[in-house]
Amino acid sequence: MALWGGRFEGQASPLFKRFNDSLRFDWRLVRADILGSKFWAAAIQRAGVLTADELARLTAALDELDAEAQKLGPALGEQGDEDVHSWVERNLIAKVGDLGKKLHTGRSRNDQVCTDLRIYTVDAIIDLKEGVRAAQRSLVGLAHRERGVVMPGYTHLQRGQPILFSHWCLAYAEMLDRDAARFDDALRRVALLPLGSGALAGTAYPVDRERLCREMGLVAASRNSLDAVGDRDFVFETLACCAMASIHLSRLAEDLILYCSSEFGFVTLDDSVSSGSSLMPQKKNPDSLELTRAKSGRIMGALVALATVMKGLPLAYNKDLQEDKEPLFDAVEHLGLTLAMLPPVLDTLKVNRDACRAAALGDGTILATELADYLVSKAGVPFREAHDIAGRAVRLTLSTGTPLHKLSAEQFRSIDPRIGPDVFAALTPEAAVAKRDVLGGTAPDRVEKQIADAAQRLGVKLA
Ligand code: ARG
Repeated sequence: MALWGGRFEGQASPLFKRFNDSLRFDWRLVRADILGSKFWAAAIQRAGVLTADELARLTAALDELDAEAQKLGPALGEQGDEDVHSWVERNLIAKVGDLGKKLHTGRSRNDQVCTDLRIYTVDAIIDLKEGVRAAQRSLVGLAHRERGVVMPGYTHLQRGQPILFSHWCLAYAEMLDRDAARFDDALRRVALLPLGSGALAGTAYPVDRERLCREMGLVAASRNSLDAVGDRDFVFETLACCAMASIHLSRLAEDLILYCSSEFGFVTLDDSVSSGSSLMPQKKNPDSLELTRAKSGRIMGALVALATVMKGLPLAYNKDLQEDKEPLFDAVEHLGLTLAMLPPVLDTLKVNRDACRAAALGDGTILATELADYLVSKAGVPFREAHDIAGRAVRLTLSTGTPLHKLSAEQFRSIDPRIGPDVFAALTPEAAVAKRDVLGGTAPDRVEKQIADAAQRLGVKLA
């Protein structure tokens, strides 16, 4: 039974019906649809459309329907109705007869669907934000567990300067912190109330939309009915938040994929989050991280898909907007999965302290900045000149094969007489990190403080 039969003589073709129907995916809105319907029933009762008794019967039937929908779960998608709104209305009429036909008074599927979608999106954002927080907690836990481990920090994927492994962990915790804040901020614009906008011009019944908004726990009632039913910027913004978070997770995954390769050997992934090769018996593959990296592509795809759907639409509602849902549902599902994967990966990660330190020293040229800084602070050499002198020491290392920190006092003196034997104390990864004792720097004390602060903010108990 379609909701719009009266004007039609002919039947929709099976192909058109398959093309047009959305129940297959929008069944996910059923909770929100029923909730919104209960509030709408109350609003039109106050507007004189329903008696108190009718409202009570409608509300009870909607509650029953909610329970039935929850029992059906995804099978609701196979029920053959045009969309979730049609499913609810058909079943409501089956329960309460003609009274069920009154619920849609003053309402359109246009204001209904974006109300539903906003309710769904609010819930999704709250869940995703909790996933982000859990990932942050694992990063902070890992930073604490592996405190003191030095490793190379990279620029251009070339060894740059030693850093603490914990500092690396906290870098991603910071990114995720902003992702959580972005979700929070989006909520203020997602949680608006379109209901009462009707098809496009506003409902013809005297509904107190501000009261409806308060009752539904939303932030504000939309101020323009065309905008309310015709825009999906709230979906776009949510997808943008999802995309940004997924890009951060992808970069984290890429770092760890490199670090767990034989070439780096900094970390070992747990068997529980790795898979093997059907051909090469020795392989242990970081599939959990590779999929994390790939999911960001999928989520960015959703963002671009919606942008493209929206960009040329005349006001107000167009059926094109039905295509807002699958990208959103898909992104929400897959970002949720990706976030859920992170704690088990991080909590079981083995950090190979010796390999990290060995790489943070290598041939010692990673400490060239220390040599330059030594000259600046010891002899007042201008940094540009100190840089040049340290560069000569690097050349000597490269030509003799003697690590920078193993050059003799003699060799250092021959490069520049101002380099004394006290230089060796500066040429260790530990000395290098200790010197970065500035807010945001990698010195152990600074990192400890960041860990403690983050743990407190996130409610992490440090062992
Ligand atoms: N399934 C539709 C959607 O997702 C519901 C709104 C239908 N409105 C309409 N005028 N046909 O957008």
